[in-house]
Amino acid sequence: MTTLDINYIRAQFPALSHQETGRWAFFENAGGSYAATPVIEKLNHFMTTTKMQPYGHISPAREAGEAMDRSHRLMAESINADIDEVMFGPSTSINSYVLSKAFAEALKSGDEIVVTNQDHEANIGAWRRLSENNAGIVLREWCVNSDTGLLDENDLKTLINERTRFVFVTHCSNIVGTINDIASISDIVHNAGAKIVVDGVSFAPHLAVDVKALKVDIYLYSLYKVFGPHQGLMYVQRDLLHELPNQGHYFNAEDPSKRLTPAGPMHGEIACVSGIVDYLTNSYRHHFGATSSASIQSQVSTMMSLGHVHEIEQSNRILDFLRDKDARIIGNTHAIENKRAPTIAFSPRKIAPEAAVKALSEQKIGIGAGHFYAYRLMEALGIEPDVGVVRVSLVHYTSAEDVDRLLNALDEVF
Ligand SMILES: Cc1ncc(COP(=O)(O)O)c(C=O)c1O
Repeated sequence: MTTLDINYIRAQFPALSHQETGRWAFFENAGGSYAATPVIEKLNHFMTTTKMQPYGHISPAREAGEAMDRSHRLMAESINADIDEVMFGPSTSINSYVLSKAFAEALKSGDEIVVTNQDHEANIGAWRRLSENNAGIVLREWCVNSDTGLLDENDLKTLINERTRFVFVTHCSNIVGTINDIASISDIVHNAGAKIVVDGVSFAPHLAVDVKALKVDIYLYSLYKVFGPHQGLMYVQRDLLHELPNQGHYFNAEDPSKRLTPAGPMHGEIACVSGIVDYLTNSYRHHFGATSSASIQSQVSTMMSLGHVHEIEQSNRILDFLRDKDARIIGNTHAIENKRAPTIAFSPRKIAPEAAVKALSEQKIGIGAGHFYAYRLMEALGIEPDVGVVRVSLVHYTSAEDVDRLLNALDEVF
């Protein structure tokens, strides 16, 4: 059975061997991962060689446009979408903000929407404002279990009805780490005649996204957490994209890549996005041989799943350790493949989260503390948001040695 060649993987991330950054055991990946070499090389090439208004007859400008188109095509292929359904914006928060402007025009009095209190505020606040600023739009909240932080699909069933237009839910909370069964939730939502909008930011760094298998109408995630540049990727199912009112310039209304992205595209960042897919397909070839004719989507999916096995193994070392300590683990206390992301949050009972983070940083172990913009989730769990939780987040380049260092250091602070 093929296992992850962690030395090969780590060699694809210059930050891991950098003279300063490389000294850290880095566990704040849910805040933003390191960038893979092909991403960095493409950005460098764009900036040094082709940084012009893209497209047209000037050859470096044409090359710039081609690089952007390649990113678009490869990302669409890798998430099983068509190219006209994928768009890039500066971040997930901005993409949802623009979407909310379109929804404000599309929704009418009496329409209902559902938000959770498990999400990052990026997938709550913009939608809550729809109801606050537009009389008659009814907001319903799908609440987590206050002990476990988990959502129950049965609760959703009691909240939706024939007036529900949109349900906004996370694929994976950036605190709880449990992977929500989006395909099943999509069925519930669609059976009621509504649409589903999913925040995939905390899922996408760990497993491949397949928008068709998930049956989603809109899916958003942030490429700076998936080994890439600071860009938000947004999938909008074609029919819905054309139903939603245009938010771009009026003369671009028929251009699918511009309807919901009024900001001018960030040329260099988009041009280097294809480096994410190149990193994953190169890694696929390294692990499974060069002769494979597998599709881009299948290569990306196989490679991410291979990395996920390693993530789960390392997560369970951390969860096993924490279960023996005086700490409240948020979410599932054992990790199972495809059910939990390696994002582990906990409340130590004897030391404040911020103090724990500070103590570990002195040993060059990078972890995080706070509410991580899941403010409402903190409140639901009975945790003071300004105190928050400790969060340890891995991706597939996190080594067993990094986890050794983390556990030794945590042992000292508990
Ligand atoms: C789960 C989740 N959703 C949304 C966001 C917002 O993403 P962005 O920073 O691209 O706006 C974050 C950022 O940390 C996140 O963790």
